Amino acid sequence: MSSSVLIIGASRGIGLEFVRQYRAAGDRVVATARSEDALAALSALGATALKLDVTDTASASGLAWQIDGHQFDRVVINAGVYGPRSEGLQTPTEADFDSVMHTNVLGPMRVLPQLADALAPDARIGLLSSRMGSIGLRTSSSGWLYRASKAAVNSVMKDAALALAGKASLCSFHPGWVRTDMGGSGADIDVQTSVAGMRTVLGALRADQSGSFFNYDGQPLAW
Ligand SMILES: NC(=O)c1ccc[n+]([C@@H]2O[C@H](COP(=O)([O-])OP(=O)(O)OC[C@H]3O[C@@H](n4cnc5c(N)ncnc54)[C@H](OP(=O)(O)O)[C@@H]3O)[C@@H](O)[C@H]2O)c1
Repeated sequence: MSSSVLIIGASRGIGLEFVRQYRAAGDRVVATARSEDALAALSALGATALKLDVTDTASASGLAWQIDGHQFDRVVINAGVYGPRSEGLQTPTEADFDSVMHTNVLGPMRVLPQLADALAPDARIGLLSSRMGSIGLRTSSSGWLYRASKAAVNSVMKDAALALAGKASLCSFHPGWVRTDMGGSGADIDVQTSVAGMRTVLGALRADQSGSFFNYDGQPLAW
């Protein structure tokens, strides 16, 4: 049976691959991007393309009416930025701090409340976090602003799991170290492997697992 899917941040990399794979499986896909070129490419893949910039207050607050009438079985909140490639304790500029936190934390906090009326029964929602956000697994301080944003979005995911209990099951994902613009060409895995794994985990996510943090292959991760 085909599903109805929403992907937030689908112009390239992991988000675009989610669109490709769900479309290849015959699912109905609504996907968001910021540029006209990306919107056209999403339409060419057979997705319904919506313009959305999660850092723009007016744009982000318009999501609810754009998805009015939809009942999504799966939602993936993928939009993210890395920000400064710091190695030690370099204080970020205010502009970098705002950009990373607004995209990676405020973005999901804007999107999640607008989903409540657009969820099919037993919907599953995946948030793209990162193992770099795990405090328990941490052995390096590189990219501390990005790390802080992903630790924060894990907290956001957990609150959403509690608030949406009985309506939807949520989890955070580490997608692996993936060959994308963000991950770079020397990363461990290709985007197809990462997304195929996360689709499987999301499809199998049970209500009693809602609020968990998983690697792309389904291994649970420490906070
Ligand atoms: N690649 C990795 O190894 C890796 C590892 C751990 C976690 N992740 C996470 O996985 C997610 C996807 O990463 P990726 O590797 O695919 O990154 P990417 O290739 O850099 O793509 C980032 C995506 O986010 C979108 N985006 C950025 N800012 C946005 C905004 N303000 N509003 C809407 N969309 C926005 C981008 O759209 P534009 O084209 O418009 O900029 C693009 O579609 C991110 O959350 C990232 O933190 C990636």
